[in-house]
Amino acid sequence: MADKLIIFDTTLRDGEQSPGASMTRDEKLRIARQLERLRVDVIEAGFAASSTGDFEAVKAIANTIRDSTVCSLARANDRDISKAAEALQGAARARIHTFIATSELHMEKKLRMTREQVLEQARQSVRFARNLCGDIEFSPEDGYRSDPDFLCRVIEAVIAEGATTINIPDTVGYAVPELYGQFIRDLRERVPNADKAIWSVHCHNDLGMAVANSLAGVKIGGARQVECTINGLGERAGNCSLEEVVMAVRTRRDHFGLEVGIDTSQIVPASRLVSQTTGFIVQPNKAVVGANAFAHASGIHQDGVLKARDTYEIMRAEDVGWSANRIVLGKLSGRNAFKQRLQELGIHLESEADINAAFARFKDLADRKSDIFDEDIIALVGDESVTHEQEHYRLLALEQQSATGERPHAKVAFAAGEVEHHAESDGNGPVDASLKAIESKLASGAEMLLYSVNAITSGSTESQGEVTVRLQHGGRIVNGVGADPDIVVASAKAYLAALNKLHSKTERVAAQG
Ligand code: KIV
Ligand code: ZN
Repeated sequence: MADKLIIFDTTLRDGEQSPGASMTRDEKLRIARQLERLRVDVIEAGFAASSTGDFEAVKAIANTIRDSTVCSLARANDRDISKAAEALQGAARARIHTFIATSELHMEKKLRMTREQVLEQARQSVRFARNLCGDIEFSPEDGYRSDPDFLCRVIEAVIAEGATTINIPDTVGYAVPELYGQFIRDLRERVPNADKAIWSVHCHNDLGMAVANSLAGVKIGGARQVECTINGLGERAGNCSLEEVVMAVRTRRDHFGLEVGIDTSQIVPASRLVSQTTGFIVQPNKAVVGANAFAHASGIHQDGVLKARDTYEIMRAEDVGWSANRIVLGKLSGRNAFKQRLQELGIHLESEADINAAFARFKDLADRKSDIFDEDIIALVGDESVTHEQEHYRLLALEQQSATGERPHAKVAFAAGEVEHHAESDGNGPVDASLKAIESKLASGAEMLLYSVNAITSGSTESQGEVTVRLQHGGRIVNGVGADPDIVVASAKAYLAALNKLHSKTERVAAQG
């Protein structure tokens, strides 16, 4: 039987460290459920000691998820490790992931510790953690730039204390595939008790090689766990992309000879959910999950694919969860059909009240848009207003005028709690005018960091527009997403959704490693 490759997802921890990608507890929980449907082996839910918000998020995920191991990051000290253990108490399977830097640069400049102090702290922390949890992962931060002799001593010591997984991070994305693979292989050969732990790779994408490095760590180095994130989300250029690693190992099973337990049909829904929640849009030509990943534009390719699919296709779009823009529901569809379609799409809404709210939105959309696709339904339930996020601001009506040679003008009616506001403004364009109208009443003082519009279903102007707005205020960064066939309305919805998050004080739970 082929060896298993463990998929460790860190979207909710390392991915979330990306500026602007921080999530609320409820958002993290929603993504964790999708990761469970995707059947990832380990979900790194956060960094429990980093904030009350992240502690609560890890705890909620640990109490909810049953089929994946739930993990919390912890610095190598007793306080962090105790917090992680406490947050993970309700987990069906828990893991504590503790780390300390081992490169000369980090030890001297960041930690201001000697080698011997770092070695001792690593040893003691793993001993302490092992008394609280049977599944302990240890990471030497900046491991790839560490002195191999010293690294071998640290790793041998922590395995002797009971670490069950040894993860070698390329923290700054400096590695190249052959060298990284060889580095892992050398460590495994030199550490006397190496076979007592599973070896793991954790690569950042600064040189665009995170996936290649991770795969080399597996193939050349013999690692059997890959740490990765959905859409490659992560600080700077991001982390190793889960979908690319999984599909590479699956599609090239002849080369890797490994099994992955992932339900690949859940990849695209996971990608959409993460993109929608964080506002980090997936580039169209991104492998596996980009809108063009399976689009054959050239006549020769189209002709070939029609004659025999494998002339130009190495994977099937439906295997990774792309639905073929099928019209699934329409104006006459009832609540039961809607509920069933949610189930088929793997969407779980908390309560009947949430289903009713989503159904009301569906009816409203079906009145204005004749064909409703799966993508529309996914956007509809991703809409903040049908979830538990507190909805203080609501768009009631929007009217705008724009004509060539004239300055656009918008009138907006919206509710702020019980109070109804009517506002109007000019602007450079209709979107600008609408948001300025809202601001003329609210004077939120928020700074806009990002505004983007995407068509939900590709290929037609009949598609809904999905707008993402990222706002910054008082040290917090939030994302709001709004969808509507009218992109000006979608923009106002997205803006109000972001203001709702700023208003709700729901703590953004960014974990900082
Ligand atoms: O990149 C890194 O070094 C990390 C560790 C905390 C595992 O994310
Ligand atoms: Zn990392």
